[in-house]
Amino acid sequence: MTDLLTIKNLKKHFPVSAGIFGKQKGTVYAVDGVDLSIKKGETFGLVGESGCGKSTLARVVMRLAPPTAGSIMFEDVDISALPQRDLRNIRKKMQMIFQDPYASLNPRMTVGDIVGEALTIHKIANGSKKSETVLKLLDVVGLSKDSINRYPHEFSGGQRQRIGIARALGRRNLISHTFL
Ligand SMILES: Nc1ncnc2c1ncn2[C@@H]1O[C@H](COP(=O)(O)OP(=O)(O)OP(=O)(O)O)[C@@H](O)[C@H]1O
Ligand SMILES: [Mg+2]
Repeated sequence: MTDLLTIKNLKKHFPVSAGIFGKQKGTVYAVDGVDLSIKKGETFGLVGESGCGKSTLARVVMRLAPPTAGSIMFEDVDISALPQRDLRNIRKKMQMIFQDPYASLNPRMTVGDIVGEALTIHKIANGSKKSETVLKLLDVVGLSKDSINRYPHEFSGGQRQRIGIARALGRRNLISHTFL
């Protein structure tokens, strides 16, 4: 059987900056040199821990994000550098099923605001007590402290689901009974 998709040495790196206008302070190596091929008619499963780069790989293969390096052969055409207008035909043949209800997290709000908002609305905490509670909620769901200043699109799908869980825990004031 012929290969439908062959990717070689695929990389996607994200610069990480400090604050909105801050300069680059590091790099996230979300996808770092992946090779794989999928044959026509084959079902391919990609498994790995949360945040290891599966969705980023899919987004890059779909060209929803540009690759940092590597080649993506789809039906014998290298689509890694095709201009957007030439991708239209290929997109008809590749579809993505998104894993998380992204729409439920406001893309213009930081995680701190998203989780904190629930606390204000439900009069659970305010001021410095609020940030303290947000940090505790993030800790409970396994997100790092610096997540508080980041935006939903900077997280993996599973991590975004945890943002939703932190918000839900705060909203229901469950944390005070369970974890504090
Ligand atoms: N736009 C971005 N800017 C910075 N970092 C990002 C960005 N998108 C993803 N990341 C980081 O890249 C890594 C890989 O994320 P990705 O969404 O590909 O993970 P995943 O394997 O799909 O995880 P999950 O199983 O939780 O869905 C994570 O550490 C994530 O925080
Ligand atoms: Mg994912």
